[in-house]
Amino acid sequence: MGKRADCSDPRVASDGPRPPPSGFVEKANVADGALRDEFDREWPGCWEHAAALLEWDEPYDDVLEDDDAPFYHWFVGGRLNAAKNCVDRHVAAGRKNQVALRWEGARGERRTYTYFDLQREVQAVAAALCDLGVAADDVVTLYLPTLPELPIAMLACARIGARHNVVFAGFAPDALRERMDGANSSALITCDGYVRRGTAIDQKRKADAALTALSGSDSRSEQIPTVVVDRLGKSHETQLGEEQYAYDSLVERFDGAEVPPVSRAATAPLFHIHTSGTTGKPERMTHAIGGYLAGAAWTSRTVFDLSAGDTHWCTADVGWITGHSYVVYGPLSRGATVVLTEGTLRYPDRHRPWEVIERNGVEVFYTTPGVIRTFRKWGERFPKSHDLSSLRLLGSVGEPIGADTWEWYYEHVGREECPIVDTWWQTETGSVLLSTLPAVDEMKPGAVGPPLPGIEVAVVNEHGRELPPGEPGYLTITRPWPSMLVPHDNDLYWLLAEYWEQFSDRRADTWRYVTGDRAVVDEDGYVTVTGRADDVVTLGNRRLGTAELEAAITAVDGVTEGAAIAGGDCGTELYVFATAERGQLEDDELRAAIADAVADRIGEFARPAAVAFTPELPETHTGKTMYRVLEDVIGESSLEDADSSSLRNPEIVGELSALWDGE
Ligand code: PRX
Repeated sequence: MGKRADCSDPRVASDGPRPPPSGFVEKANVADGALRDEFDREWPGCWEHAAALLEWDEPYDDVLEDDDAPFYHWFVGGRLNAAKNCVDRHVAAGRKNQVALRWEGARGERRTYTYFDLQREVQAVAAALCDLGVAADDVVTLYLPTLPELPIAMLACARIGARHNVVFAGFAPDALRERMDGANSSALITCDGYVRRGTAIDQKRKADAALTALSGSDSRSEQIPTVVVDRLGKSHETQLGEEQYAYDSLVERFDGAEVPPVSRAATAPLFHIHTSGTTGKPERMTHAIGGYLAGAAWTSRTVFDLSAGDTHWCTADVGWITGHSYVVYGPLSRGATVVLTEGTLRYPDRHRPWEVIERNGVEVFYTTPGVIRTFRKWGERFPKSHDLSSLRLLGSVGEPIGADTWEWYYEHVGREECPIVDTWWQTETGSVLLSTLPAVDEMKPGAVGPPLPGIEVAVVNEHGRELPPGEPGYLTITRPWPSMLVPHDNDLYWLLAEYWEQFSDRRADTWRYVTGDRAVVDEDGYVTVTGRADDVVTLGNRRLGTAELEAAITAVDGVTEGAAIAGGDCGTELYVFATAERGQLEDDELRAAIADAVADRIGEFARPAAVAFTPELPETHTGKTMYRVLEDVIGESSLEDADSSSLRNPEIVGELSALWDGE
């Protein structure tokens, strides 16, 4: 899944640009390209269009306040509540019986919540949290898999003005402890356990370990109140300790409670979330209520074409930003029906994704290139054997999709009738910034698309000079946007250094946000993201892009994924890790072909000193190869300073080490 090869390789064939499918255009929310010009002309006032999608308790005075640039404040003076916007107003608008959440569990269970059900349970949980002493501005950590209780708990926090801090359920206790401590969390909601690939995972034990470690530290002498959702039922004996409460009994106790949504300043924080941390430690991000929600709602309308009653399925785990923005806040603010799926898409079998679409009448489907590549590997007979005619729009996010994967998605999932939005954004940006408008812009397979209306980017060289179309460089964003990261507590200086200083002209008060990505823009303003700027292998004194190396390795027939790192004598030797299509771990011919391909494409100086085959590459949860883990395997760095909890497949580390030692 870490394969980013076909995307950064312009030689991969594609049938060329595609116009938006006409059947889609006829019914789309935005079918007029004049929006871009209008946003340019009226910037920043144009963002009132986004704010107008929300219900405000008090109107804002200023759309944008830039006195503290680059710490911009959006919709200043306005007041609103995110839960009211995502739940209550739909009930008030007469849609209380519309389905808000359709959940499909890993063991085949199904649960449905109408907007009315959602309102009731959100209020019960909000009342329970207040009873446990949680107040506005407190932080509640949510350590839950994709259960309905997760969005419910997020909305319950938002309702009372508390901030949620969702920690991905697959993280280890230490990662949970670190993220709770970093966010200064005063309560925890977790569960007894959950099911993954048919196996029960003891979540409570992990949570308890983190809590014990936290209470042992100086900063926390008191027990943190903990709510435990019963996911596994009778099959799991859950012992509740001091200050630990069963979710069900709290909901029963507070059922029917009326908890009015707290009116909050638009600039107040809505939540914290930690970035995926491809390298180094995870960092805490903060998003503000007004700007974030406006961005999530606006892009849900313009990019995903969502309106009230539409059915939306985003496969992302709610624990990541994609799940926050496009499982919870975006679709629910639009009054859509959200499909939530627990567990992996391959369990119980490869029909599951297509059955979910068929059974629920999914109209908008949003996933990652890694997932699409897996579908492709399984073969088109799976989507073919299901009725996918409800699908109207497809999305991709997280890494470059690449032209050939794009073509497969377009043909075999979208039947050439659904536009594909290749959406570029980040945890920090809160919502999509680069994407085609699906009924307006032609699609160029492999390129994410132009900036959305109101967004402006520049590709610059290492000195910050803007580069002309066709020249690759660093992707920067040159205007602020509503759902942008905001400072909180003491992170001002860190944010400045990490995201703003590199390419900005402070004296001229001209600010450029540094995305950390490398990209190239074409004559039409379409951006192709080629990888992270920090994804660089320094071989001797030459800097090589990991994307470039991956492209060379995976260009070899029979290789699916590849990564290369520098090691050996003063870092002058290149070591390659690759996965073979047939899964073989020994193949001298393939090994030689890879070495030749790298030498051919990059240069003889880069001819690999060794090539090792592995069943999988170590990956983050968003499908990016963890280079630090590979470095650890060859003894070039220690995993202790990388954040191994970011790994999707931690079990591969041991296997890789064994394979490498045998090399
Ligand atoms: O490198 C870009 C890549 O994912 C990074 C952001 O990762 P994260 O904060 O975990 O958020 C992931 C989901 C929003 C970006 O810096 N990325 C995201 N979308 C794309 C992408 N790379 C290429 N094409 C995309 N569509």
